Amino acid sequence: MLKTIRYVTICLMVVFSFAVEAQERKITSTMNTPDMDKFITNLMSKMTLEEKIGQLNLVSVGFDVTGPIVSENVEEKIKKGLVGGVFNTFTPVAVRKLQEMAVQNTRLKIPLLFGYDVIHGHRTIFPIPLGLSASWDLATIEKSARIAADEASADGLNWVFSPMVDIARDPRWGRIAEGAGEDTWYGSRVAEAMVRGYQGGDLALNNTVMACVKHFALYGGALAGRDYNPVDMSERSMLQDYLPPYRAAVDAGVATVMTSFNDINGIPAAANSWLINDLLRKQWGFRGMVVSDYTSLTELVAHGVSANEYEAAADALKAGNDMDMVGEVYLNNLGKLTQDKKIVVTQIDAACRRILEAKYKLGLFDDPYRYADEQRAKQTLMKNEYREAARDVARKSIVLLKNNNNALPLKPGASVALVGPLARSQRDMIGNWSGAGDWQQAVSVDQGLKNSQGHLQINYAKGANITDDPVLIQRLNTHGGNLEIDQRSSEAMISEAVEAAKKSDVVIAVVGESQGMTGEASSRADISLPGKQLDLLKALKNTGKPLVIVLMNGRPLTLPWEQANADAIVETWFLGTEAGNAIADVLLGTYNPSGKLTATFPQHVGQVPLFYNHKTTGRPYGGEMLDKYKSRYLDVSNDPLYPFGHGLSYTTFSYGDVKLSKNEITTQDKLTVTCQVKNTGTRAGEEVVQLYVQDVVGSVTRPVKELKGFQKIMLQPGESKEVTFTLTQQDLSFYRRDMTFGTEPGKFNVFIGGNSKDGQRASFELK
Ligand code: BGC
Repeated sequence: MLKTIRYVTICLMVVFSFAVEAQERKITSTMNTPDMDKFITNLMSKMTLEEKIGQLNLVSVGFDVTGPIVSENVEEKIKKGLVGGVFNTFTPVAVRKLQEMAVQNTRLKIPLLFGYDVIHGHRTIFPIPLGLSASWDLATIEKSARIAADEASADGLNWVFSPMVDIARDPRWGRIAEGAGEDTWYGSRVAEAMVRGYQGGDLALNNTVMACVKHFALYGGALAGRDYNPVDMSERSMLQDYLPPYRAAVDAGVATVMTSFNDINGIPAAANSWLINDLLRKQWGFRGMVVSDYTSLTELVAHGVSANEYEAAADALKAGNDMDMVGEVYLNNLGKLTQDKKIVVTQIDAACRRILEAKYKLGLFDDPYRYADEQRAKQTLMKNEYREAARDVARKSIVLLKNNNNALPLKPGASVALVGPLARSQRDMIGNWSGAGDWQQAVSVDQGLKNSQGHLQINYAKGANITDDPVLIQRLNTHGGNLEIDQRSSEAMISEAVEAAKKSDVVIAVVGESQGMTGEASSRADISLPGKQLDLLKALKNTGKPLVIVLMNGRPLTLPWEQANADAIVETWFLGTEAGNAIADVLLGTYNPSGKLTATFPQHVGQVPLFYNHKTTGRPYGGEMLDKYKSRYLDVSNDPLYPFGHGLSYTTFSYGDVKLSKNEITTQDKLTVTCQVKNTGTRAGEEVVQLYVQDVVGSVTRPVKELKGFQKIMLQPGESKEVTFTLTQQDLSFYRRDMTFGTEPGKFNVFIGGNSKDGQRASFELK
């Protein structure tokens, strides 16, 4: 009895002193502070080894399944203090319930983190990241992340698994949809904007969340574009092309980093000490927490680098991986590894400290329920203002790929054959990784056109299924695809569409991929329009009616027939909750399209990886048809179908000469580059003015050009603006032959234009 009383008294004392400490400290910043250090040191001095290991465990509650297995006995583990964070659940009620389990049942009352894949919006869904990046509007991109954070934090969450900043040059890879495309410089700017949007400068506010930059590192370099495949890459390409966006996120203050599934030159990222301990922490100075990807510590065994999970736990911890997502190899093995002296407790301490620091910075020790406010959720989630913002972001992300003879915008009152498997889809509008988004709230193209003031007469026909492959359909629907398959023969469906076309002035064919054909584990070897959709387009073309193609897809597609035969092509990705309204805005011209591609569209899948900032080779092909020994294909040219940076407007722009402030500069100088851009059409419109640089001769081969700046400007008809860029030494630097980063003297070319292919040129000399 006495013993029990003593135990209860000690517990109460611990709780009381803890509460007092929590009240005394102040949450002011995202940085580590002496107060925080003191608080955590004190807390950790009371923790058992088991409690510390528990903090390293991140479990999925399985409301949503985002990996091959789900965590088991979660509630029991939370109550025992064996869980540090939970993901795949949200809503203030659900979060409060789990948080109470942790705070009321565990000895030290350490609150849980609540994470989720908030990738392109939380409840209000924005365009998929590849689409969002096509807006070339960093303020808009940041705003979308800010709104996502406001909604997510009102819905119980304090941690989002975004931004995904993997540079992707291979459109076969399904996850190209989740990032900002192929360019390192632009991808870095987007990474910063997303981090700013989510974290908002102060994690202690209850409407900001921790961002998690992923997938560290080089996941986009998967061989053959096949998901989870190894990455074999030169050090130069890593440093020059693939790592800068992660670095940009770290420099922008990202709170957490997620390691990737892939191996890097033979060493899986999750157990890669060079990557986490040396590069990320020591060289880049990252002080936050590192989390593994879904069961990726367990997968060290399948990779064949750890003999069993016991070894995997040691390998990952030593490499610097703090938190174990779902696999529980830490939970099951770190205790024994410590006893066996295979790891030292200080390694567990370091990981545990970083997780507790994250919780401290979020203010969870002050109030574990600060993100679980039902009232705030009601006021915040999907409010009108956010839906309006989603419509604005969506239309800015649309890219007009082709528009002949002013096929677009549509004439008000026109009769329109609205054809295609995606014309009435709502599920696909919110795209992949749209976690908490409700597709039933999404606006289809059909609905968007009806909502508009265009007074169109719509003759609808489905025309084709997205795919007729029964296995693929079953697979997509097993994972929430909601694909409705029309059982009619494709001939019957096509002939119905042709009849609709015949009685209309113009055909709008809404075709593409189903959202589930993009994203994780959704690589495609054939990146053309799936199923019978091309047959449908050909039949529609034969009617002689103007053919407008509205594309929906999560990757660059090969569209040679479409480009040669359609009158207009509008790339709409998967635009989110307001997709249909945004598409109607563009089709009817109430919004003049301004997006530009951030990933090259190849003519043929055999050309990939195809990207604008390639090297020349020693035998560059310059169009000499009969020359044999040139770097080229026999059956397709080296050109892309649409280059990086391409996108049209309903108006036209002309570019004047590129003017430089000097023809010779030193490394200390800044170079001012200007160009006059004029709206030569009859409508107001926005243009993304792009600046590229080429280092003509280097100690190592250099890309033909590299993006180093852009500005999105609005011009009235006939209006001209002088656009000014400043180039610094940083913009001219690269990893030289000895792997130091810096410039080399010599000639540089500067290009300014509306895409990566066409541009006005000037040259200068770096002394
Ligand atoms: C993905 C991550 C994601 C995680 C949690 C993994 O399969 O690679 O991007 O954040 O699951 O759902």
